[in-house]
Amino acid sequence: MTKVGVAGYGVIGQRLADGVAAQGDMELVGVADVAPTLPVRALAERGMPYKLFTAVPEKKNLLTDEGIPVSGTLEELVQEVDIMLDATSAGIGAKNKELYQKYNTKAVFQGGETNDVADVFFHGYANFEKGVGADYLKLTSCNTTGLIRAIDAIDRAVGVPRTAMTIIRRVADPGDYHRGLTNALKVDHAPSHQAEDLMTIMPHVAATGILIHTPVTHGHIITPVVTTRDKINKEKLLEIFHAHPRIRVVRLEDGFLGNASLFKYARDLGNPRGDMYEIAVWEESIVMSGDDIMFAINIPQEAVVIPENIDAVRAATKMQTTRETGTAKTNEYLKIKAR
Ligand SMILES: NC(=O)c1ccc[n+]([C@@H]2O[C@H](COP(=O)([O-])OP(=O)(O)OC[C@H]3O[C@@H](n4cnc5c(N)ncnc54)[C@H](O)[C@@H]3O)[C@@H](O)[C@H]2O)c1
Repeated sequence: MTKVGVAGYGVIGQRLADGVAAQGDMELVGVADVAPTLPVRALAERGMPYKLFTAVPEKKNLLTDEGIPVSGTLEELVQEVDIMLDATSAGIGAKNKELYQKYNTKAVFQGGETNDVADVFFHGYANFEKGVGADYLKLTSCNTTGLIRAIDAIDRAVGVPRTAMTIIRRVADPGDYHRGLTNALKVDHAPSHQAEDLMTIMPHVAATGILIHTPVTHGHIITPVVTTRDKINKEKLLEIFHAHPRIRVVRLEDGFLGNASLFKYARDLGNPRGDMYEIAVWEESIVMSGDDIMFAINIPQEAVVIPENIDAVRAATKMQTTRETGTAKTNEYLKIKAR
């Protein structure tokens, strides 16, 4: 059993904890946070299915005064585990790293940290082997995780020398107030960091793109245009995507009209919090532009990075040493399968 701890019990941390708890060959030792946030209060109201550790021992009373049981400190948690999944607010992971280094505990950081926090910028499908045995890994952001799943799948089948994309980015997560009550689109400086991150992980692909923030919360949509080395067509692309366990092919014709349909469908499936691990590609969005191919994918930002995080645990702790075996185990325990 690989012992895993989660630091930061927010949007991503809660889902990482659930994901690790679902793995038959991992033990979730506990989660750490600093304050009685809503997810921490919900954890207590659910009867503490996971042990909670405080990251700021001198402020432990913030939790205990609210009747929330505290099992120890983050520093103690770090000593009990083989690896930490750090999903604290962007920038805090780099500070926590000092603690992980002090006890020689491996760690996986999230997209909000700078790349220099880790030895390996990691994606379960695109560069699993680079993570094998590594001490510090950083996961790609939600958009990049989903984008790379699609581009890597095409790359392995027909080769991808070039891609360009537009990213339509949800501006906040459901329940957020800190981004304001907005009704506007905002254009970012090009190239988007997702295109640059893709090139860091897949250096043989020339990638660029534009990102536009949109005032919605249920998922981003990316529309990549992909140049392939070998000839591709719609049927071939559908074959590639259907074979990928973490890519779901959906149809407008069936009622999947956009991001909100996928969020609603995840809730109809009974998935906790309306989560979906898979990115979705709309069958009717696939179109040729000369020899290039273009399509639209949905990125469920809150849940998409969970499987690749668990792949990172497998790679770093050498539970498996190949992408095929590592991603297959994660998929098995998270009940993700090609359809
Ligand atoms: N929200 C998304 O859609 C999303 C998607 C992919 C990646 N990410 C990345 O995941 C990371 C976490 O984002 P989030 O949206 O879950 O943030 P969040 O604000 O929902 O959660 C962060 C949690 O960390 C806690 N925290 C702060 N300082 C801490 C400390 N020193 N020790 C322990 N806990 C501490 C906060 O109290 C909070 O509960 C960021 O790097 C972000 O860029 C977010």
